[in-house]
Amino acid sequence: MAKRKARKKIMRKTRRSKAEIRPKKAVLHAPKEELKKELKISAIEEGTVIDHIPTDATFKVVDILNLQNYNGVVSIATNLQSKRIGKKGIVKVGGKSLTQEEVNKIAIVASDATVNFIKNYDVKEKIKVKTPDVIDSVVKCSNPVCITNNEQVATKFYVVKKDPLKIKCHYCERSMGKEDLHII
Ligand code: CTP
Ligand code: ZN
Repeated sequence: MAKRKARKKIMRKTRRSKAEIRPKKAVLHAPKEELKKELKISAIEEGTVIDHIPTDATFKVVDILNLQNYNGVVSIATNLQSKRIGKKGIVKVGGKSLTQEEVNKIAIVASDATVNFIKNYDVKEKIKVKTPDVIDSVVKCSNPVCITNNEQVATKFYVVKKDPLKIKCHYCERSMGKEDLHII
């Protein structure tokens, strides 16, 4: 009698431990894509994710948003594989919602970027950035004798070509490509 009781007890135990294992298995079956993302750089609860940044522009985006002086959580990843643009960078800024002006600036260095506004872990809004036709007060003119480098005059450029980017100074007519860009 005692033996049977003991066996029943063991069976109950086994059953319970199987049930305890089950939730872990469910986690392992999360979509592969999602797991991969989470391993690279974790999701944020609130803030902005700038995605699909060309790798050479990742740190320019960091500059534009002045994130060196930001107090919230910032995650930066670069040289990630992307089906769309080959290699890409991602910048995640916790607790910050970008202004339209900041989005416009990002478009100058990263014309393929997507800006995602996150709330409660959900993508609330997704914007594909758009290169502007005129760039005001963002880029420095590469011509040392340009008036904008010698007097208190704000820079102004016209976008001549969007891809690859070619811009022309309103004051000295200097043409500049993406490699000459210095963000003010
Ligand atoms: N993301 C995040 N934190 C969240 C939600 C999303 O960091 N709480 C990030 C994702 O890792 C991704 C970006 O925000 O880099 C956009 O998320 P989502 O639209 O879900 O991903 P995709 O469908 O891959 O985006 P896309 O179609 O723009 O490539
Ligand atoms: Zn100039």
